[in-house]
Amino acid sequence: MDLHFFRGRRLRRTPELRALVRETHLHPGSLILPLFVEEGEGLRKPVDSMPGVVRTSPDEVIREGRAAAELGLGGVIVFGIPARKDPEGTGAWADDGIVQEGVRALKAECPDLLVMTDVCLCEYTSHGHCGLLDGEAILNDPTLDLLARTAVSHARAGADIVAPSDMMDGRVLAIREALDGAGFRETPILSYAAKYASAFYGPFRDAADSTPSFGDRRGYQMDPANAAEAIREVWADLEQGADLLMVKPALAYLDIIHRVKVETGVPLAAYHVSGEYAQIMAAARLGWLDEAAAMTEALLSIRRAGADLVVSYWALEFARRYHGG
Ligand code: PBG
Repeated sequence: MDLHFFRGRRLRRTPELRALVRETHLHPGSLILPLFVEEGEGLRKPVDSMPGVVRTSPDEVIREGRAAAELGLGGVIVFGIPARKDPEGTGAWADDGIVQEGVRALKAECPDLLVMTDVCLCEYTSHGHCGLLDGEAILNDPTLDLLARTAVSHARAGADIVAPSDMMDGRVLAIREALDGAGFRETPILSYAAKYASAFYGPFRDAADSTPSFGDRRGYQMDPANAAEAIREVWADLEQGADLLMVKPALAYLDIIHRVKVETGVPLAAYHVSGEYAQIMAAARLGWLDEAAAMTEALLSIRRAGADLVVSYWALEFARRYHGG
């Protein structure tokens, strides 16, 4: 009897057939590696809650930079851990600040490596919030100038792309105007446009010493319950001049990634954040998950949802395996 029902299994029979009809491809060029740079020399400190992740001094970060370039990653994104913090976060825009030093070291050693920087104040403020404070209230507009200065100093140090992650309203416009005014018209802005107030940032805050000393970030980061609001956020940032967008976290927000991609068509990144990474790594260490398989599936899902780029702590590990290492 001739059966004409759909036989999906015909195309799943062999690796060759599966490869032929695969819809989503994962490639080191779509991965961005986060790097934590700390003041000092010869430092490589493992981050306990993120197996495989290290905090390095500027002289050491070039090892990660070289590996990222050799393995063909899309780029790196630099975070800084300053030696001193103060209420304004002045270390964020110091020309000899830690991110600036890290960027200069990376660009000197690996000129072809695409280097992005995270523009935010929380790693530099003594209170750990992403903006200036009046008592316990975050002052949105006075913070914009500090973010703009930070972005300009990153560009001056050699950053190829600046990525504001603070979630203050109006920051993209403030940064765009400041970059243009300082002669950096060609420096693109990757806006963390839809950044949620997520429990999955925990290990990052350990790594970057940026846990708020009081309260939380729900007054500026988005409510995990909201999707339509993410669309308003991304259009607001596009109108202000954002060139690329980011959704963060990634796996818990695949619907947002999909909607932002479909509704804007703009180059889109998604941040597979520290807690999303830590949960798989922890299960793998207990022998409850296969790390490599879970890594590939997680990254692939984020791409399939609509992200062109994935910021991931696995970027080097994935690229090594991709190249057969
Ligand atoms: C800075 C910033 C954070 C992350 C990226 N940029 C922390 C936060 O908002 O608390 C988190 C990244 C991660 O968890 O991997 N604002």
